[in-house]
Amino acid sequence: MRSLRKTVLLAVLVSVVLVLALLHSWPTRAYNTVDVWQRLGPTVERHLEERLPEPDHQLSSVPFHIRKSVAGLLARNGCICEGESPGVNLPFAQLLFPRVSAHSLHTAFDASELEEMKMRRAKEYRGFQQRSKTAADTLIIAEANNPLQYPTQGVEVRPMKTIIIPGLALHDLPRDHYTINITATLGRLNVAAEVEEVKIKGDGGMHMSLSSSLLLNLNRQLQFVTYTNTLFHPNTADTVELKTEGHQAAFTIKIRHGVTPKLYDTGPKQEYNVSALVTIATKTFLRYEKLQNLIDSIRKYYPTVMIVIADDSENPKTISGPYIEQYIMPFGKGWFAGRNLAVSQVTTKYVLWVDDDFFFTADTKLEKLVDVLERTTLDLVGGAVREATGYTATYRQTISIEPGEEDGDCLHMRRGFHHVIEGFPNCVVTDGVINFFLARTDKVQQVGFDPRLARVAHLEFFIDGLGSLHVGSCDDVIINHATKIKLPWVTQSESDKTYAKFRYPPASSDATRTKNGLLYFKNRFQCLTRN
Ligand SMILES: *[C@@H]1O[C@H](CO)[C@@H](O)[C@H](O)[C@H]1NC(C)=O
Ligand SMILES: *[C@@H]1O[C@H](CO)[C@@H](O)[C@H](O)[C@H]1NC(C)=O
Repeated sequence: MRSLRKTVLLAVLVSVVLVLALLHSWPTRAYNTVDVWQRLGPTVERHLEERLPEPDHQLSSVPFHIRKSVAGLLARNGCICEGESPGVNLPFAQLLFPRVSAHSLHTAFDASELEEMKMRRAKEYRGFQQRSKTAADTLIIAEANNPLQYPTQGVEVRPMKTIIIPGLALHDLPRDHYTINITATLGRLNVAAEVEEVKIKGDGGMHMSLSSSLLLNLNRQLQFVTYTNTLFHPNTADTVELKTEGHQAAFTIKIRHGVTPKLYDTGPKQEYNVSALVTIATKTFLRYEKLQNLIDSIRKYYPTVMIVIADDSENPKTISGPYIEQYIMPFGKGWFAGRNLAVSQVTTKYVLWVDDDFFFTADTKLEKLVDVLERTTLDLVGGAVREATGYTATYRQTISIEPGEEDGDCLHMRRGFHHVIEGFPNCVVTDGVINFFLARTDKVQQVGFDPRLARVAHLEFFIDGLGSLHVGSCDDVIINHATKIKLPWVTQSESDKTYAKFRYPPASSDATRTKNGLLYFKNRFQCLTRN
């Protein structure tokens, strides 16, 4: 009787805690879904131009009130990483109410080497900024009441080629004579046609002057102004200046090659042929029984899909069979080195990453993941992993980077996602997912897995990919995970023990130091927060 009451009490307690956890994680979002579908035709996306007021003496005397709720959203001068103070100390508290913790990354280095490290990082960062910034990044404002009309954005020329500069015009000004001067620095100006009653000076040079007493004729002439890039320096921009008496304006012309695509031929079939579209990549280390289970399970559903295995075991065993490629690596080369090698050998449009201790079931429908990538602009989509206990996880993470000053930026990682994907109710957009994902091969190869991350590493790939990888996650494509929970009546095999020693080193170890050191130097972070 007593034990029954105890059970009931326990059940009530558990339900209360679950309801609280549900409320706690309930999303409060303005948008429920996001439309990331691939569409034909030109992209409608337009960059929102930031318009800042010019400093003005008259304006600065007008008082104002700060709206804290909005001003707080603007980037601060320098960032900080703050953790949450520990709440009630219940068992499973971290699982149910994930608390944000903060970590400083400079601890990866001794105090003696830190200063030196900071200076070297700053030097590398300056170089990086120089490589990645162009004149097109500078803010240019079209001033109010300027009679000059010109393009503010979106003018582009291929290196050493010619375009007509669109949108040039002069608006009504009561004058006897109109002059417009145009100046460029990386190319020459000219006219593709001449208009009567317009005087052209300096055509074919970097400074051209057009004048007329007839505004209509001058405006007609402005429609034929051409720009020819003459200095070969792709991925830069020319700032073009436009002047008339009392007014001036400037705009940029981007100089760049078109992006060369990398396309994969997926055959004539209408329905998805997984063998033609997907290669399964995995990395193994000592766990051959698990790997064999994975291969057997794949073959049950996808008998002809290619499997690429990177293997850095000490005494590698040959895995043979049709549609299998095994790449032997030096002993203990590591987790990310193996992922890199495996992914580098993929020749299909998509690569599916799986861990070697996963196995396929009837719920592992790769066609669904292919469908998401075929019909949206996403680059990578994760699935769900089901544990032996029946619990499934998608391990969705959002990642954001807050700009900091000389100490570096702040990295923030949180469990969760941004929006549900329109038309795919089981899928969301997020920044990081679990070790089971389908991705565009060329995008994964571009981001790469840093081979310096030898042991525990996963989200580091998504941190490196932030800004170039567009990530989604679907919970209706499920792979199973061979049990990790140690049951007392099952003795751990010798290879499992050695594996555990390599894969799960203690937190204070060199592996953690390497990881923090890379976040600190390579990614230029000062600290990170996560829950
Ligand atoms: C335009 O350029 C000519 C020289 O080519 C110069 O004499 C004239 O002052 C300039 N006009 C304006 C408005 O800048
Ligand atoms: C699917 O693709 C594979 C590999 O390209 C090919 O051998 C096979 O014939 C294709 N199957 C169908 C049904 O088209």
